[in-house]
Amino acid sequence: MAEDLSIITGNKAEQYQSLIPQLKGLLEGENDLVANMANVVAALKEQFGPQGSGSWLWVGFYVVKNDELVLAPFQGPVACTRIKKGRGVCGSSWAEAKTLIVPDVDKFPGHIACSSLSKSEIVIPVFRNNEVVAVLDVDSSEYDQFDTTDQRYLEEIVTLIEF
Ligand code: SME
Repeated sequence: MAEDLSIITGNKAEQYQSLIPQLKGLLEGENDLVANMANVVAALKEQFGPQGSGSWLWVGFYVVKNDELVLAPFQGPVACTRIKKGRGVCGSSWAEAKTLIVPDVDKFPGHIACSSLSKSEIVIPVFRNNEVVAVLDVDSSEYDQFDTTDQRYLEEIVTLIEF
């Protein structure tokens, strides 16, 4: 397994396309869920965070446990640990079982502000047997940072992990 990630510039699709085979390499032969979630969010943050090409402030998983979302591996500032179904962007993505793109978090009713620096957000639900078992949450320090390109690739990336 290559332990150094290759970080590229270029458009967003090119960045995801460079990352995906590397993520597959990181996940290959490892079946520990926490380890795999941890490496995926670390790789995403390296590529799309301020050290890489972008403005990602926070990227991490929340997993469904006892009918709540519970904080799981993430990269970024400390965050709220539990989110109820239907609450905030994460709880809404879980309840609606669909990806939510929020260009301005202040305009999303019920948005949970873990960090005042967060301006836009995307949340991707993770499915197992047609049930949402986790969500991948990404926050940016800039407005309007997420679009259907992020949706497409992040939805693909979460399927690389066996939940
Ligand atoms: N903003 C999220 C909460 C999680 S943090 O951003 C890490 C929400 O509204 O669900």
